[in-house]
Amino acid sequence: MVLVNRHVRLLVFQNQRAVFEVVGGRSSDFRPPRVFCFLSIFSVRKRSAMSFVTVAYAVLFYVATVVFLVGFLKRVLQFASAPAPLKIPTMPAPLTRIGAAGRVTREVILFESLFRSDKWLWIFSVLFHMGLLLVLLRHARYFLSPDFLSPVWGAVWGAVVFIQPFGVYAAFAMLAGLVMLLVRRVVMVRPRYITNPSDILLLILLLGVALSGILMTFIVHTDIIALKQFFVSLFTLSFQPLPTDSLLLVHLFCVAVLMIVFPFSKLLHVPGVFFSPTRAQCDNAREKRHLANWAASMDAER
Ligand code: HEM
Repeated sequence: MVLVNRHVRLLVFQNQRAVFEVVGGRSSDFRPPRVFCFLSIFSVRKRSAMSFVTVAYAVLFYVATVVFLVGFLKRVLQFASAPAPLKIPTMPAPLTRIGAAGRVTREVILFESLFRSDKWLWIFSVLFHMGLLLVLLRHARYFLSPDFLSPVWGAVWGAVVFIQPFGVYAAFAMLAGLVMLLVRRVVMVRPRYITNPSDILLLILLLGVALSGILMTFIVHTDIIALKQFFVSLFTLSFQPLPTDSLLLVHLFCVAVLMIVFPFSKLLHVPGVFFSPTRAQCDNAREKRHLANWAASMDAER
């Protein structure tokens, strides 16, 4: 019996290691056999039947993805077709469209106008947004595989592998930025005056995602191979069980809620910045008469 048990553990271990290599893990990331065998047996037992949790989270992520994609697209189309009756770029403004595109790019990458108006807020925002970007890039490993052989794909996977250590430490930058943004809204009189409950709730939701993620990375690890299998299986409709660790479930729940509220919240400033007339328009009103699309037909009838 002991021998059979040992054999089963060995097989599970070998199988897990093979899967780990296929999903792109480095051998240094692989947990020591004894711990891993224990975890494997644990997760195999949990994976024997498709649990309620797996089904609930599969449905939750399908719903969240549809709401996010449809809502996001709808709002972007709405922004793109909103009337812009006047030339209102914030001066001094670029004189050409290329210059205006450069201004928007600087706004998106460097938060240029925020830097000019509030240095502390700029620091907190950069910490949070750049941290978030690196963390999200690090997460690409849960959805991509290195076994696709095209050279482009190899470069993408190389970038995902390269980003891994930076993503871990970026999590602390993200957390620090979030805490400072929250403290600012609660403590400072002027920001507090214009703060809605939804502003605080969004920050708390993001803090929930960051804290549960950091705890999983450094203290209570989860089975990331099974997790990846679960997410890849959502694409291929060949459903695999989700690990049921509480921290992971909290992490994923907060992420799904974030995706669902995104199209209805202030998080829409992400696409919104590209459509802001004060940033995206150029200062050419003297050279070219500004005529909004919706006003063109009325103008022709005059
Ligand atoms: C808005 C989206 C998300 C944010 C902001 C976020 C944030 C974070 C942060 C800050 C960490 C700690 C640093 C790190 O290891 O990268 C983390 C870890 C983690 N996240 Fe996320 N996450 C998001 C989405 C997801 C999704 C969709 C999954 C499921 C595939 C996921 C699974 C994990 C796991 C398993 C860890 C622990 C990694 C490890 O043990 O090395 N996260 N997350």
